[in-house]
Amino acid sequence: MIKEIEEKIKKVLDFNSKDSNEIEDFRIEFLGKKGHISRYFSEFKKVKDTEKKEYGLAINKLKSTAQDKIEELKKSINCSENKKTNNIDLTRPASMIELGSRHPISIIRDKIIDIFYKIGFNISEGPEIEDDWHNFTALNLPLHHPARDMQDTFFINKDPDLLLRTHTSSVQIRHMENNEPPIRTISPGRVYRNEDISARSHCFFHQIEGLYIDENVSFADLKQTLLFFTKELFGKSKIRLRPSYFPFTEPSAEVDIYWGLNSETDYRITKGTGWLEIMGCGMVDPNVLDNCKIDSNKYSGFAFGMGIERIAMLLYQIEDIRILYENDIRFNSQFKDSI
Ligand code: DAH
Repeated sequence: MIKEIEEKIKKVLDFNSKDSNEIEDFRIEFLGKKGHISRYFSEFKKVKDTEKKEYGLAINKLKSTAQDKIEELKKSINCSENKKTNNIDLTRPASMIELGSRHPISIIRDKIIDIFYKIGFNISEGPEIEDDWHNFTALNLPLHHPARDMQDTFFINKDPDLLLRTHTSSVQIRHMENNEPPIRTISPGRVYRNEDISARSHCFFHQIEGLYIDENVSFADLKQTLLFFTKELFGKSKIRLRPSYFPFTEPSAEVDIYWGLNSETDYRITKGTGWLEIMGCGMVDPNVLDNCKIDSNKYSGFAFGMGIERIAMLLYQIEDIRILYENDIRFNSQFKDSI
């Protein structure tokens, strides 16, 4: 009998399983009410007195070995289940989240928006796929007007006519069609031109358009607004307005800021003049107001438009526009601190 118990101990020691059902069956086989161990205990009285001590020790050893074994196996499956599911140590310090950086075009766009927001401009947007009316005709550029050639256009469809907008001035029209004066709005967005890609130009880029319509708006208002803007953005307080031509404004002007001539770079980027052109502007042509059903006898206004890339390139001293579109993380991550 003792030999049989010793064999059972060996069986217990050799048992191994990761399956909880198997472990439970094993427990029932040994420790259950009708299991080996209770059977050996009930047979205790039949054992000869001289062997009782040795027999008792053997069953107790079998019992404790079986209990230890089951304990050990249960622990090991609990551990591996924990690892899979909820082995979360809530006391551990959190790992740092790697912060990305914003794109320089977004940073500059938001800076410009913030400046105009301070003086009461809201933001308006329009579609990148436009029709001829909003991109050209309503802006005083009727069909066959030679000034249409100023912007090489990607045409999409003839009837209905669709094109990729060449400037954000189209949003002026949409805004005036849907709002009554007083209007103070700026419209940031992407524009497209059928141009060769080079260090200075690209077939798409970003603009911000500004529009102010009210009674008695004058050229002096335009100049002061732009002066405020250039002071805020560039910290430069000298601007000049050079006569220019845009079909949608009359009179029209090109805005230059005095950048200065303090370094070799200043000489290079201003071509030795100290002046830099940053945008176009003018008083909204009465024809444009009329096209949008705004009474041009009662209202007047000014508009301006600038390229965001151009401003970003100036402020961050970027020489090649193409780098702005490559999304090279080594380049983009340099703007982390400018957010
Ligand atoms: N739309 C012009 C362009 O893309 C920029 C511009 C010039 C916008 C004068 C204006 C403006 O609103 O008044 O070149």
